[in-house]
Amino acid sequence: MKASIALTPGDGIGPEVVHEARLLLSDVARLYGHQFQFTEHLLGGCAIDRHGTAMPDETLQGCRGADAVLLGAVGGPKWDDPQAKVRPEQGLLAIRKALGLYANLRPISPHPALAKLSPLKPERVAGVDFIVVRELTGGLYFGTPKGREQTPEGERAVDTLVYTEGEIRRIVRLAFQLAQKRRQLVTSVDKANVLESSRLWRKVAIEVGKEFPNVKLEHQLVDSCAMRLITHAPSFDVIVTENMFGDILTDEAAVLAGSLGMCPSASLGEGRIGLYEPIHGSAPDIAGKGIANPTGTILSAALLLRHSLGLETEAKAVEAAVTATIDAGQLTGDLGAAQPLSTAQMGAAIRERLAAGRN
Ligand code: IPM
Ligand code: MG
Repeated sequence: MKASIALTPGDGIGPEVVHEARLLLSDVARLYGHQFQFTEHLLGGCAIDRHGTAMPDETLQGCRGADAVLLGAVGGPKWDDPQAKVRPEQGLLAIRKALGLYANLRPISPHPALAKLSPLKPERVAGVDFIVVRELTGGLYFGTPKGREQTPEGERAVDTLVYTEGEIRRIVRLAFQLAQKRRQLVTSVDKANVLESSRLWRKVAIEVGKEFPNVKLEHQLVDSCAMRLITHAPSFDVIVTENMFGDILTDEAAVLAGSLGMCPSASLGEGRIGLYEPIHGSAPDIAGKGIANPTGTILSAALLLRHSLGLETEAKAVEAAVTATIDAGQLTGDLGAAQPLSTAQMGAAIRERLAAGRN
């Protein structure tokens, strides 16, 4: 098949890890007889430096015209001034919103060999295999009114948590569809004991659940969900939740995978275009050193193959190549290797396994 892939490497380690994922996608194309065309665009801090805005028009047009977007990471201390008018993160939020990517999928299935890296006891991590479906274009991140104002008593700031029935229904439905193909359990996470938006969320989740009689629906309050992620993580299959809760719970969940460097994500909307990115940030402390783990981005490329290009065989082959590389003890520094591989060596090791799997 022919596909166009827009790359937005971003800041910090973003360019280093996206480079490895691009090499891998080129190998997938060669090994499986596809043609992938790549374009590169500025997003985040690098775009602020060049154009004064975190998401230039050129970037949005370039991404709109592509079949999928692969993103590295945005942000860094250089752009962190709380008084700054423009922030790299605005680019990320703007592109998610502009492309209508309301569903953020974050699968967590730790490799058994990495269980020892988790601060949790191995028996709490064994058998963990769930996916968080995070609503991505609503809630506190986008609700209005939003802003700051001077009052006689001092400054006042407001953010608004707002959801419509339609926004809840489409994301919960997607969670049920995923659960149907998995272990048929949806955990809908809310704060219905306090928040009105959560009570609407719960009502809609129950309605949607009736469309899927063979999938079990359970409700959990976000605070106790945070606890259950530590105490009983293997009991989850599909977790669905609003934007901010999902943001917080997925960083917590990533700890189960041993390293943030391992975790991919996919952001999807109604169409075929999706945005794929590792869930780690720009890691300014190690940027430019060539030691970042490219696996989260490479696994994001696998999700790109699966969800935007419909190439399931190729996606599975990439995932198998990652598993085989880790099984062989070829690891970057964050994975506790005695003799850590560099970013480039880790990328090359995974590509070798991919080629070997094809032979
Ligand atoms: C994430 C990140 C972003 C978010 C930031 C960088 C805006 O934390 O993708 O989880 O909060 O969505
Ligand atoms: Mg986050």
